[in-house]
Amino acid sequence: MSLVDEARAIRDRAYVPYSNFKVGAAIRAASGKVYVGVNVENVAYPEGTCAEAGAIAAMIAGGDTRIAEVAVIADSPEPVPCCGGCRQKLAEFADADVPVTLATMAGKTLQTTVGQILPGVFTVAHMQRD
Ligand code: THU
Repeated sequence: MSLVDEARAIRDRAYVPYSNFKVGAAIRAASGKVYVGVNVENVAYPEGTCAEAGAIAAMIAGGDTRIAEVAVIADSPEPVPCCGGCRQKLAEFADADVPVTLATMAGKTLQTTVGQILPGVFTVAHMQRD
């Protein structure tokens, strides 16, 4: 199954009583294992989590720490961009050239990379003082 298809298959499990906007995410780790996630909302709205964050949490719990590829899917007219917070979360575990596919349920896709969606990323190198 393609990574977009993995994201599509999990998307329906999203818990979205407030937005009614289901998002599915899939990460292929450097090991080859695939981890999936969905958005999980909460009545205290800021406590909700994005699909990408769920997939990252599953990856870490599964024993992987490096991302090789990402796919995100939603039922939107245009491919939905990852939110700013998720861009930083992905960058923690992915090199700038890691491919990101944003997809719609209708079949539109937008191909980008972690570096393209988060230029000027804050990294550990920025904390180094000599
Ligand atoms: N959402 C994601 O899960 N990932 C994205 O890339 C964009 C937004 C979720 C958060 C919230 O549950 C819903 O979409 C509406 O913002």
